[in-house]
Amino acid sequence: MTDTRYSLRRGIAADAPALWAIRSDAVRCTCRGHYPDELLERWAASPLPESFPANIEREYVIVGVVGSRIAGFATLKASTAEVDAVFVAPGEGRRGLGRRLLVHIEDVAARKGLQRLGLNASLNAVPFYEACGYEAISEGVYTTGAGVQIACVRMEKAIETLTA
Ligand SMILES: CC(C)(COP(=O)(O)OP(=O)(O)OC[C@H]1O[C@@H](n2cnc3c(N)ncnc32)[C@H](O)[C@@H]1OP(=O)(O)O)[C@@H](O)C(=O)NCCC(=O)NCCS
Repeated sequence: MTDTRYSLRRGIAADAPALWAIRSDAVRCTCRGHYPDELLERWAASPLPESFPANIEREYVIVGVVGSRIAGFATLKASTAEVDAVFVAPGEGRRGLGRRLLVHIEDVAARKGLQRLGLNASLNAVPFYEACGYEAISEGVYTTGAGVQIACVRMEKAIETLTA
């Protein structure tokens, strides 16, 4: 059941440092055990890209907050029908926030007329996406913006088109 303390709002460029910190903490903590520690450290330690603040406003980024504190976020790249990332702060895990962010992204995608969403799931996240209705298509390798290569699973879900 979703923790009712969470509310959702659109991300803004000024959120960039907080979002990047959640992403790095989630990689270090939540992905642990699914990849070699050395790989996780290289993935987590990559610095906030210069383009990240502008991308938050160019893409559709939804942020989950408790009061003024950011607890997680998810990104829709509508141009490629991709869920780019769902990251939940390690201390906020398994309270339904990840699912809530993803359902919101799917609603937005449906209103934009998208019929299918795809994503590259990190190995630890596969059960989460399966629980949210995504189907594994193939195994692959995802190259992060900083050039770190991580094993992933390509997953997809058909979504019901809504009219705004
Ligand atoms: C993947 C992630 C976003 C899930 O967020 P979350 O808020 O913990 O997920 P939810 O609480 O909404 O989970 C919804 C359901 O997914 C499934 N699920 C979530 N995490 C799971 C896990 N580690 N193992 C098995 N099932 C899991 C469960 O069925 C869960 O429902 P339940 O708690 O009632 O059993 C979060 O773990 C995370 O940020 N991980 C690190 C970053 C990452 O790998 N992101 C994905 C990049 S592609």
